[in-house]
Amino acid sequence: MDVLLANAKKPLGSVGVYGARVLAQMHKEYYERVFEELWPVAGKRVLEIGCGYAMYAEVLVACGAEYIGIDHSADVIAECRVEFPEGTFFCRDAMDGLPFCDMAFMVNVLQWMDEPLAALRAAQRVVVPGGKIVVGTPDRDCSRRSKIDGLGLCSANDLTLMLDDAGFSFVTVDDFEAKKTRYLIGVGVA
Ligand SMILES: C[S@@+](CC[C@H](N)C(=O)[O-])C[C@H]1O[C@@H](n2cnc3c(N)ncnc32)[C@H](O)[C@@H]1O
Repeated sequence: MDVLLANAKKPLGSVGVYGARVLAQMHKEYYERVFEELWPVAGKRVLEIGCGYAMYAEVLVACGAEYIGIDHSADVIAECRVEFPEGTFFCRDAMDGLPFCDMAFMVNVLQWMDEPLAALRAAQRVVVPGGKIVVGTPDRDCSRRSKIDGLGLCSANDLTLMLDDAGFSFVTVDDFEAKKTRYLIGVGVA
């Protein structure tokens, strides 16, 4: 537990690059459906906040999006620039200086943040009116990690309230299960 918490501000939290790849593989099918059918990203500027090693960049670009990734870790951003030259990457904190976008996308980031609501408010300021935010995070009530103090897991209700408080409207929360962990996907319109 101490190791997990100590790593919270490091790239990829506790999972490392291999773990991130495995996680993204499990989640890709769900997000592909999101990006192709539910909220098509073709021709849209998508900003991934806390992009880590940009595991979703390929699928977003394949679905026709212009991809921008930001992360506060300079190391991962340097690697992303080499590994995924089709994307645009900035080393930035989620609270500050985000570029404008049609859709903000955050996966497995909110639970590591000290101020998740402030991060959602910062995202709300840069999503164009009518654009969307898509936030994926483990469900506190249905997660193997829920007993770890200090990891900011939220419930579906918390996520709805936070997105609402951050200024998003038409908020909905969907979910899916992967490896015995339930993930919430909150969506709101700016
Ligand atoms: C568990 S990783 C998830 C990475 C990626 N979203 C994925 O699903 O593969 C969390 C990422 O969020 C980044 N992060 C955490 N807090 C951040 C902040 N305040 N600003 C920018 N990036 C942040 C970390 O550096 C890390 O790369």
